[in-house]
Amino acid sequence: MDKSEKLALTLSFLLLSLFFGAIVYASMARNIEVPTCITDVEPFLTDTLFQTGPDEYELQMVARMWAFQPSVVRLPVGSTVNIYLTSQDIIHGFKVDRKNVNLMAAPGAINYLKVTFDEAGEYKFACHEFCGAAHHTMAGRFVIEEAINEPETAD
Ligand code: CUA
Repeated sequence: MDKSEKLALTLSFLLLSLFFGAIVYASMARNIEVPTCITDVEPFLTDTLFQTGPDEYELQMVARMWAFQPSVVRLPVGSTVNIYLTSQDIIHGFKVDRKNVNLMAAPGAINYLKVTFDEAGEYKFACHEFCGAAHHTMAGRFVIEEAINEPETAD
């Protein structure tokens, strides 16, 4: 093998190791969640929100032309939400404003991401994948409140 080929292979390997290390560092040390495709949750076609622990919730969200169900999610401040996202029809996107949440909603698949809301306020979310005539209307919001009695959703 030529010397320059060896050098190129070594540098490629080092670069890949660096990228892989950066992902491990981000997920472990910086607690940054990496979107995951879930295979051990039964496919669902209706939305639900329920509490799974103190300050912890599970949200099963359905995207379809041209809305998210639920479109409004009310939660108390400090909530951690495990988001399970699927689509009823075609591929949609899901991006939450001011949060590191960016998922794809694909029919027949469930994508997962965990997010914590430490500050009260409204966090809008929208579809970021062109999905037809009313793509621009496909949006909703998390409403994070200082103190509420029960979490609720609205379509
Ligand atoms: Cu759904 Cu764009």
